[in-house]
Amino acid sequence: MRLARVQRLVQETIEGALAFHPDVPVVHAMRYALQGGKRLRALLVIESARVHGIAEDEALSAAAAVEALHAYSLVHDDLPAMDDDDLRRGQPTVHRKWDEATAILAGDALQSLAFELCCDPALGARRTELVAALAKAAGAEGMVLGQALDIAAETAPAPLSLDEISRLQDAKTGALIGFAATAGAILAGADRAPLAAYARALGLAFQIADDILDVEGDPAKAGKKLGKDAAAGKATFVSLLGLAKAKRRARELADEAQKALVPYGMRADVLREIAEFAISREM
Ligand code: IPE
Ligand code: IPE
Ligand code: MG
Ligand code: MG
Ligand code: MG
Repeated sequence: MRLARVQRLVQETIEGALAFHPDVPVVHAMRYALQGGKRLRALLVIESARVHGIAEDEALSAAAAVEALHAYSLVHDDLPAMDDDDLRRGQPTVHRKWDEATAILAGDALQSLAFELCCDPALGARRTELVAALAKAAGAEGMVLGQALDIAAETAPAPLSLDEISRLQDAKTGALIGFAATAGAILAGADRAPLAAYARALGLAFQIADDILDVEGDPAKAGKKLGKDAAAGKATFVSLLGLAKAKRRARELADEAQKALVPYGMRADVLREIAEFAISREM
């Protein structure tokens, strides 16, 4: 299966990138934080490359990069100052296994590693554009903005509106998924618009599914503590619409994502499967 292959290749790329790093706790914590995970963002990179005729090994460093950046975002998301979680991918979170300083630094270094991976010459002549796109997706217009809005919403005087929640989730989760799904178009110098439309719907559907899992998922499958969003006062589609309407919205968004793939024909079948998986997943 394609996902299993991508999981293996990404793991090898990450291990290669860390092979000559010093034998110190912060590097052990980086390796630990990079283990496991569905590698969905990596698969998006590889598949968006494939629909543009770019071979796997010419996109692999970008796939590893997005997973390193994602791992950093999770290590910091779990910190006591953020979501204060003890469990991630079925294991103690980094600040639990080591300490907060190590988790902060490991996250910082994972972010640096992501940009280093994006500079790999194997990614070809357009990799500078890829670096710029990753910077935009990760920073104060993207994931960091979304995380800031997410934390601010916990203590907001009034519940967020649907538009405000969409903006939050677009940034928090959508930006990095947007980077991953358009990476192939960027490397090929092709029009990014259809994949950007796909990613926008996919990112929202993916985060709504995460919010639904928080309410009715199986913690053993999810590998993280569930039932925490309501207690923390998180602004989610579920908190605003309830489960049934949130599920309907996720379904609509998965359909919308698939419609955006029409220009790519059958080459985009795996991207279609990803949209289905995003809303049916149990982890
Ligand atoms: C978890 O992302 C955080 C969200 C954006 C919802 P994933 O569900 O992709 O986590 P891993 O990488 O598979 O652990
Ligand atoms: C995390 O969203 C999104 C990022 C790390 C950017 P959540 O806080 O909902 O993710 P989980 O539920 O802890 O995986
Ligand atoms: Mg969070
Ligand atoms: Mg969290
Ligand atoms: Mg969540």
